[in-house]
Formats: sequence, structure tokens, C-alpha cells
Amino acid sequence: MDYLEINGGKKLSGSISISGAKNAALPLLASTILSKNEVTICNLPDVVDIKTMLRLLENLGATYEYDGDCAKIDSSTINNSKAIYDIVRKMRASILTLGPLLARFGRCEVSLPGGCAIGQRPIDLHLKALEAMGANIEIKQGYVIATAEDGLKGATIIFDKITVTGTENIVMAAALAKGETKIINAAKEPEVVQLCEVLKEAGVEIEGIGSEELIIKGSDRELLDIKDISVIPDRIEAGTYLCAGAITNSKITLNNVNHSHLISIILKLQEMGFDFDLKEDAITIKPAVKIRHANIATSEYPGFPTDMQAQFMALALVANGTSVIEERLFENRFMHVSELHRMGAVITLNNNIATVEGGNELNGADVMATDLRASSALVLAALVANGITRVHRIYHLDRGYVALEQKLSSLGADIKRLKE
Ligand code: UD1
Repeated sequence: MDYLEINGGKKLSGSISISGAKNAALPLLASTILSKNEVTICNLPDVVDIKTMLRLLENLGATYEYDGDCAKIDSSTINNSKAIYDIVRKMRASILTLGPLLARFGRCEVSLPGGCAIGQRPIDLHLKALEAMGANIEIKQGYVIATAEDGLKGATIIFDKITVTGTENIVMAAALAKGETKIINAAKEPEVVQLCEVLKEAGVEIEGIGSEELIIKGSDRELLDIKDISVIPDRIEAGTYLCAGAITNSKITLNNVNHSHLISIILKLQEMGFDFDLKEDAITIKPAVKIRHANIATSEYPGFPTDMQAQFMALALVANGTSVIEERLFENRFMHVSELHRMGAVITLNNNIATVEGGNELNGADVMATDLRASSALVLAALVANGITRVHRIYHLDRGYVALEQKLSSLGADIKRLKE
């Protein structure tokens, strides 16, 4: 198993390029199930989750060529609608095949994704919505068995909670359903928006893209003509590197970003004292005179992303004063706290609220990655800790960050990947 060894205390400088968004790429890959023709998707991040989704599509009968940036996928050959446990257990987002498989074949079996480090993460809202569209759902031997022999039918769906992959699943299902589907309380994340735009370009009538109410006119099982796609830049990867610039109080530039997706992150960093230069698709973060504490509450887009909570907690450790961080989306997303404690961090937890005392010295330690974003918080803290930090179990990081250690070393960090 690989681990990262980081010798803290180096200033960063220079520029790096941000990769395509994993969370946009995954539903786009799943959407090829709805296509009658081969689809080329470019700007794919070269991370494990993308390979897992490609393997899942292949296991269903699709063929693909992939060179680490673009994948040419022919899902017209899919002849099996069972997403097996062995692949689904590696990545919860495999559930994104449920909507399109059911819509296309009228029957599918998708392994239940199970719990994960950041909480229970149920899929009840996905299932309830598909039932409203006429599906019969059974859970048997760890699989969701969904049937809609005569195809799915348009319906009005009100999500009790805003769900990103839930919205994506139902948008894809609705694209091949008979009639009109209205989704109320839909997710508005840029990744959902890109999926809707791709389906619209493929001929699906969709109204309300980017709003909380989507209206989708289905094709009644006629497969779509999905055009070639370039995945949007990863706002969470960009946010993580902005935090790397911030925590080391350095000036760095990120290329291939979309600032409009980063507003809540930029505003929070400004509140903490950082300044920015924005160019068309680049952003430069500049050092703060004094890093100020900040209070954060995670919420759905365009609010502050839960996927940036751990990284900002690391940043709050070097701020002046005490920050309060409230996690409102997931019940167990503070796994990084006990690892940060090992580095000398002073953080107290009270249910979903973390109180982070800034300004204490951080010291290198052996720490364990627990989930994707928690792991990046440990790397960020290590960049400013005294001495050596070893971050173990970095397979979590490899699921979502492209060449993290190469990007950070090109900015001047002392970081290497080693074998246990
Ligand atoms: C997606 C992102 C993930 C991000 C999260 C929130 C992908 C592949 N993953 O995850 O990185 O952290 O959005 O921005 O895009 N819920 C239910 N029942 C459901 C579905 C969700 O109760 O059927 C709850 C969840 O437990 C959570 C909340 O709704 O409390 C939001 O979760 P959701 O938006 O569905 O997260 P994901 O789509 O799994």
C-alpha cells in the first residue's frame, strides 16, 4: 500500500492545472447507458473512481477505449442490467447506473452501496422517486431489484432532502420515461447542471436547468444521441489547492477553473483575509496579512460545500482565533478530527459542530486517511506541520485527486509517495 510522506514548512509558488470534475464525470459516464451511439468524454480526471465506473459499464456489456483523458464509450452493446456488488462496493456512485438501466431495459439489479465512512448515506429518495415513476422495487440479497416492464412514466417528484446523485439518477430515468417528469427540490450543483445540458443537447427537453425545479420530457424509451462531452473543471480539487495556498500563506495560480463554481469558497477565503486575482479560467490566491478565523456551515450548492469542510478545518488551525464549523449534510463527517489531534490540533466536537482553535503549533505524525476529503485535510495540515507527516491509506485520495503529490511538489511542497 502507498503512503505520502510530507516534510512541512515549505512555501508554495507557481501554477498547476485543475483536472476535470470526478463528480461531474461519473453521472456523465452513467448517462452513456441512454445513448444509441458511441460517446467521447474528455477532460476525465485520471482517478480510480473513473476507472471503476468504466469497469462497471464494461461489466454491463459496454465497450470503451480510455487514454487517461478521454474515453470513447459504446454503451449500445449493453446486454446485462446487473450492477454487481464487487464493483459497486468500491464506489457508492455506482448507484448512478440505477436510473438509466431501469429506464432503458425496464428491469435492473443494482447492488446496494452500503454504508461508508461519512455516514449511512441511504438511497431511499432515489428509490421513492423511481416508484413514483411506476417502478416496482424490491430489495433482495443486497440488491435493489427494480422493474417497470412497460417503461417508466413521468411523475411529479418532491425530494424531501436535496440529493445530488438522487437528482442525477431521476433526471436520467426521466429522459427515457413516457411523458413529463417534474422534480421539485432538485439539486443545483454544477455537476447536475452539466448532466442536464448534455441530455438537452442530446434532444431531451429540459426546463429549469440550474434551478430547484426541473421539468423533463421523456423520449418513451427511444435511445438518445449523446454528443461528445468535455467535463467541467473540478471545483473541489480547485478549492483544495486554494486551501493549500492559503494554509502555507503562499501565492499560487490554478489554471482550468470556473470561478463561478467557486464563489462560496472564494468568499470564505476572502473573509479569512486572502486576496485573489481572477482571469478568464485562472485564479491566483495571494497571501493574507493576517489569517482570520471563520465560521462555516455546510449546505447544498451554492452554499459552502460539505466536500470542502475538512480542508477548511485544516486551514482554521493556522488562523487567528477560534472557528466554528457546522456539518449539516452528513452525520459522521468529522473522521479527520482525531487524526488532526495526532498532529497537535485543538478541536472539540459536539455532535455536528467542531470548534477549532487556531494558532497552535502542528507537529508531523503518522496519520490515517479515512475518506476522500478527510485525507486531503491531513495533507494540508502536513504542509505546515513541523517535520515529517506520513499519511497512510491514501487509496482514498487516489479515488478523487489526480496526481496530488506531483501537483503539490511542482508548487514546491516536499512530498513523496512511498510504499509501506
Ligand atoms: C454527492 C457527491 C458527494 C457530496 C454530496 C453532497 C457525487 C458522486 N458525490 O453525494 O461528493 O459530498 O453529493 O454534496 O456526486 N440522502 C438521503 N436519502 C437519499 C439520498 C440522500 O437521506 O436517498 C441524504 C444523505 O444522507 C445526505 C444528504 O441527503 O445527508 C445529501 O446527500 P446526497 O446529495 O445524496 O449525496 P450524494 O449524491 O451521495
